[in-house]
Amino acid sequence: MTNESLLEKVKSTFLKRFSTKPVLSFSPGRINLIGEHTDYNGGFVFPAAINKGIVSGIQKNNNMYCSVYAIDTDEVLEFSLQNIQPAKNGGWKNYVLGVVAEIIKRDITICSFDLVFAGNIPLGAGLSSSAALENSIVFGLNELFELGLTKEEMIYISQKAEHNYVGVQCGIMDQYASMFGKEGKALLLDCRNLKATYFSIDFKEYDIILINTNVKHSLTESAYNERRSVCEAVAARLEVSALRDATYEALFTIKKEITEDHYQKALFILQENERVLKAAIALDKKDYITFGKLLFESHNGLQNQYKVSCTELDFLIDHAKQNPDVLGARMMGGGFGGCTINIIKKGATDTFINTVAPLYHKQFNKTLSRYDVQIAEGTYKIK
Ligand code: GLA
Repeated sequence: MTNESLLEKVKSTFLKRFSTKPVLSFSPGRINLIGEHTDYNGGFVFPAAINKGIVSGIQKNNNMYCSVYAIDTDEVLEFSLQNIQPAKNGGWKNYVLGVVAEIIKRDITICSFDLVFAGNIPLGAGLSSSAALENSIVFGLNELFELGLTKEEMIYISQKAEHNYVGVQCGIMDQYASMFGKEGKALLLDCRNLKATYFSIDFKEYDIILINTNVKHSLTESAYNERRSVCEAVAARLEVSALRDATYEALFTIKKEITEDHYQKALFILQENERVLKAAIALDKKDYITFGKLLFESHNGLQNQYKVSCTELDFLIDHAKQNPDVLGARMMGGGFGGCTINIIKKGATDTFINTVAPLYHKQFNKTLSRYDVQIAEGTYKIK
């Protein structure tokens, strides 16, 4: 569905259900060129907002409770601001409840409201539909109640909602990219101080194509949190506040004291951070060949050292490596399913996908989806 029809749908549904006009906003999903699992290690990432996202409409009501309607799943959530609890098996509901709870926790006063939202980000694809939803709610509430929150404050509220209500100890990349993205630009973000450098993205004779495995393996959340704990444990052992500050030499000196698995995971973080910086230099020089190689290396580390890939993703990357028209490719996002990001020669994508899709289907009995990415603006109010 296009963003225009998404907007019309939210507008008309809101009017029908609540007979008022809402404050409308758009909050996008994101891609990530390179820099996976580095954000919660105080490191570097290279994401961009995309032209798919969530439209939400929000307005005050005079009721004792808030009423939320998710158009896509045709589900309703009603709750009182006086008593907010995480919902059991809540799915999207906990993103909403979490954001509201985090706002109230900061001693900010809001009143009851009605909310309607709908989105066009494929779910489970690693495109951060959850950050888009969180951001759209905190942004909408900020506009509606004139809370005066800065965008930085808003993304930390979104992130905390995910930590405390959803249970994923995520970093800040997704919320940042979805809030601060700029049309046509990727942002090299230092996750320690939230300083971003914007890079125009134009791979000349190459396109960025996402290929969705259409799988999302279970236990993703616990595996994610486990990875984060391992990184924090190794950092503590090295007496640094985050692996961002660790050196290869220091890590090597404790190699015998930690498991090989933990060593490889920590090593991956150091290497991935380095790759992000190298990728930024390559992009600056328009050296797309080096950029592509770094993507393949990143995948190799995510697969073999950090162990967050899966057979479906690896299958696609193996095929990408064999194709001379693909400069680079890797899994994208948290892992265990979702999309690969590919830098493919213009005009060669159809052949690549038409070759790989039947093989993929034969192997996994699943169909691939392809998305041509457009890099777009971060969260904004729709006038
Ligand atoms: C998820 C998290 C992010 C980040 C990525 C992996 O998308 O929400 O904070 O850690 O995984 O890079």
